[in-house]
Amino acid sequence: MLSIFTILRKRRNIESMRIVLGLVAVLLLLVESGGAAKPSGMTNVATPAKVSTSSAEKARVDFDTQIQPIFKSNCMPCHFTGGKMYDRLPFDKPETIRKLGVKVFTRIKAEDERRLIENFLTQAP
Ligand code: HEC
Repeated sequence: MLSIFTILRKRRNIESMRIVLGLVAVLLLLVESGGAAKPSGMTNVATPAKVSTSSAEKARVDFDTQIQPIFKSNCMPCHFTGGKMYDRLPFDKPETIRKLGVKVFTRIKAEDERRLIENFLTQAP
């Protein structure tokens, strides 16, 4: 590198000097961006991981995706559209489940399903 500069200085070739300085600047930028990318990449990985674990603990029970499937698999067809109990107790509506509360446990025995329904009943509507 030094020899290049010496040659360039001897020749006083300003144009070549500019090219070399430009290359040095590009190299510095590459090194700089490479160094900056690593820590920011690490924080990007760490942040969503933290958010997902904490939100999983406090996650709301979703009626459509978590509660309704339980009733669909156990209480079809009577409490769904076209069933004989749909007018009185429609199980595709969260209000019906809230109104009945733990009464549904007379027909739902699975522990994991009961826990989900209990969490749904205790959370704010
Ligand atoms: C084969 C049709 C049928 C299925 C399947 C069915 N039900 Fe019903 N359900 C009825 C009928 C008919 C009534 C009203 C007459 C009665 O009290 O039994 C009723 C009434 C109820 C009541 C009112 C209170 C009570 O105990 O009488 C609840 C609560 C209830 N069902 C929950 C459920 C749940 C939860 C499921 C699914 C795990 C379910 N039912 C599946 C037909 C059904």
